[in-house]
Amino acid sequence: MNIQIINGPNLNLLGVREKSIYGDSSFESYLQDLRKRYANITINYYQSNVEGEIINKLHEVGFTVDGIVINAGAYTHTSVAIGDAIAGIKAPVIEVHISNVYKREEFRHKSLLAANCKGVIAGFGLDSYRLAIENLVNG
Ligand code: DQA
Repeated sequence: MNIQIINGPNLNLLGVREKSIYGDSSFESYLQDLRKRYANITINYYQSNVEGEIINKLHEVGFTVDGIVINAGAYTHTSVAIGDAIAGIKAPVIEVHISNVYKREEFRHKSLLAANCKGVIAGFGLDSYRLAIENLVNG
């Protein structure tokens, strides 16, 4: 089984950025734990701060992998284009957020991706990614 994780803008700064919201672990160190836990599946990781690069990645992997876990960061709330890219590919996509976006500013309550996703997981810290993978593996 082959799963792609895609992180959007500013998520390269996990462990450094706004730690009270996003925690103090880098994504790379969390990813090591995930890969150990799911040793029998391939977990590919891609991060970009650039909207078009995220779309290119969705097109590139979206017809071959078994599932995609995407945290599009702030693009979640603004990007018609990423929403359209998700609608256009074959692989199931799960939208994740580290923080509970519904407890935060109102502009974070709206997702332009969610309607095209299998489901949304938000508010469980980095464990949101594991919960999404768990669904793709067993769900
Ligand atoms: C986020 C929530 C977004 O609103 C924010 O812009 C992020 C991270 C999260 O994981 O909680 O960059 O997607």
